[in-house]
Amino acid sequence: MTGRFLVTGGAGYVGSHLVAALLERGLSVTVIDDLSTGHRAAVLPGARLVEGDVADPSVLEPVLADGPWEAVFHFAALSVVGDSMREPVRYLSSNVGTGVRLIEACVRHRVPRFVLSSTAALFGMPDCLPIDEEARIDPASAYGESKAMLERTLAWADQAHGLRSACLRYFNAAGADAEGRLGEAHDPETHLIPLVIDAALGRRPEIAVFGRDWPTQDGTCIRDYVHVADLADAHLRVLPVLDHRSAVYNLGNGQGHTVLEVIEAVQRVSGRQVPVRMADRRPGDAAVLVASSARIMRETGWKPRFAAIDDIVATALAWREAHPAGYRLPTARRTDHPGLG
Ligand code: UFG
Repeated sequence: MTGRFLVTGGAGYVGSHLVAALLERGLSVTVIDDLSTGHRAAVLPGARLVEGDVADPSVLEPVLADGPWEAVFHFAALSVVGDSMREPVRYLSSNVGTGVRLIEACVRHRVPRFVLSSTAALFGMPDCLPIDEEARIDPASAYGESKAMLERTLAWADQAHGLRSACLRYFNAAGADAEGRLGEAHDPETHLIPLVIDAALGRRPEIAVFGRDWPTQDGTCIRDYVHVADLADAHLRVLPVLDHRSAVYNLGNGQGHTVLEVIEAVQRVSGRQVPVRMADRRPGDAAVLVASSARIMRETGWKPRFAAIDDIVATALAWREAHPAGYRLPTARRTDHPGLG
């Protein structure tokens, strides 16, 4: 590959790790990000950052016209499942509107390959485990619905215009860049692993465990935590497939961990106790979400390098210890700084 790569939302959590992977391979990268949830400092030196809304033609058109592009990776989206239930129409309008306009522009500018950041939230409450690509699409949230609509739009864009696409359905993205340059920095943070780490570091009083009566071995929900660098790697591995056809892939570690097992992993890796409070179930949660990634492994040779939960937690812990306020402040010198984060 010698061409240029466009990453929308490349200042966000998963997008910034893909940008790092592209740069490591010596590839030319342009990021479009309005920095509404992404961070300028998450775009590593070497990538070009165009600050603006990808839905704005005055931002997108000059970038696409400055091709040719080898591939467009589309991450820019609203992505908080709970918010999408309070404001479903805003989520659908923004995610579907932006995505469809981007796909339309890619067709017009003859971009050959498109990779969509999709989600396990497509599957709602699955009847079959592990969840493979044949599982029924039945989103339980407007966020999941918005991604389902973009997957459908891409199927039409291939059929009618030959735009080859890969839809990558991430399960629970977790962990941080092994070199410590990038990590998870959401505001507010809602994801389990960073919250448990903050409780271990004394930056929050406790972790609330949402439900103790789920039909699992210890009564807490099971999720499939997959390292963000492994997700980034998958984006590169699917590109050769797109020379021939479009594809959809589920992306997880293939191993489920309960909430209590994640808390134990954080305690093991950090050497600190995590104060735990049992709480009610969170509306919209499913008991178990575990991926079958057999298809992407078979077709691209992808294999998670961070398969063990302790390795995933260790990278997340290193990032959070060194960056108590995410990207907002210079790297912390101390790790026991209460009140930040
Ligand atoms: N959890 C707690 N306490 C917390 C936070 C989470 O017990 O304070 C539990 C949740 O109930 C769930 C598990 O930890 O069982 C993981 O929760 P996250 O919020 O970290 O992740 P989700 O599985 O809810 O959501 C993730 C992504 C979404 C994506 C979804 C697909 O964050 O973007 O997977 O199913 F849509």
